[in-house]
Amino acid sequence: MKAAELTAIGPAENVVRCIDVDNPGEPGEGEVVVDIVACSINPADILLIEGNYATKPETPCPHGIEGAGTVTAVGSGVTSLKVGDKVMSLARTNWVQQIRDKAETFIRLPADVDLAQAAMLKVNVATAHLMLTTYVPLSKGDWLIQNAANSGVGVDLIRLAHADGVRTVNIVRRAGFIEPLKKLGADAVVVDGPDLAQRVAAETGGAQIKLGIDAVGGSAIGRLTDCVGESGTVVNYGLLSGEPCQIDAFNFVFRDIKLVGFWLARIMRELEFSEIQAMYDKLSARLVDGTIHVDIEASYPLEKVSQAMAHAKREARGGKVQLRPNG
Ligand SMILES: NC(=O)c1ccc[n+]([C@@H]2O[C@H](COP(=O)([O-])OP(=O)(O)OC[C@H]3O[C@@H](n4cnc5c(N)ncnc54)[C@H](OP(=O)(O)O)[C@@H]3O)[C@@H](O)[C@H]2O)c1
Repeated sequence: MKAAELTAIGPAENVVRCIDVDNPGEPGEGEVVVDIVACSINPADILLIEGNYATKPETPCPHGIEGAGTVTAVGSGVTSLKVGDKVMSLARTNWVQQIRDKAETFIRLPADVDLAQAAMLKVNVATAHLMLTTYVPLSKGDWLIQNAANSGVGVDLIRLAHADGVRTVNIVRRAGFIEPLKKLGADAVVVDGPDLAQRVAAETGGAQIKLGIDAVGGSAIGRLTDCVGESGTVVNYGLLSGEPCQIDAFNFVFRDIKLVGFWLARIMRELEFSEIQAMYDKLSARLVDGTIHVDIEASYPLEKVSQAMAHAKREARGGKVQLRPNG
């Protein structure tokens, strides 16, 4: 069967290749085999492949943080899954046609879920959900502000907040994203740049924004923090600019702003499998009812993994880039 192999740490379009590997074989006790249908290529994959992530793998190695598919074989003693079930993989080696692992490596999904959407559930939907619910109690009518608002996480956040009546200010880099995000339920969309705080105040009628959500770092988190109301919280969860966070100390000393970091992997490590399954039961139901949906710009077979990497690194995409290992 085909698999993507990370041959070295380096530019993603150069170091990931498609290779032939042995089929996974029959499942052992407590194991299942899953055909992977769709895998999203996320910024975290690119960061890891290029040596800019929290962990650095020994190469060559398999890779792929996300993947969703269908159970094709079940080993003895497995009661939680059966052949034909749709699942999302918690493994980090999903860019492959088939994967064999313990049943607890897979989250059972509703039968009517779209597997391409489910391949964006593990990382981005959970991230949006947890940032929305963990740091600041938000009620109907409250405001939050986020940047990289046209990203997968950004779109999930707009949709989840809108469904709960929480209002969002959304910072983007290009005016072309303003109308599309408003159609998804964004209350305000602003283009990043000078005078951001004044423009946001004008859009919100001077509302006290309780939560700021930053994926960019650099000077962008500083401009976002200036928009957050007194005693608000800013959550940094991404490094898109590659620059250290630059925030005016005035915000901490005189305005009582709190800054926290979010990393999904750390939170997941603290949870029991039953808690993880319960969280994804709720979130996958929102995929099925249409609350959550992220556009897919392109899908590639494993043989074209290098083109897929280059595409995933492009700016101003209209959605996710995915791999379709089984066509
Ligand atoms: N901490 C965690 O646990 C966690 C979990 C999930 C995701 N994340 C992070 O969340 C962020 C978004 O991930 P995603 O999968 O949602 O992204 P995505 O759908 O692949 O979209 C990428 C986004 O990044 C924006 N972007 C790229 N470079 C930028 C820069 N220098 N300044 C401002 N914006 C920039 C793009 O804007 P344009 O369209 O204008 O190019 C686009 O909105 C990433 O940083 C990712 O690592 C973190």
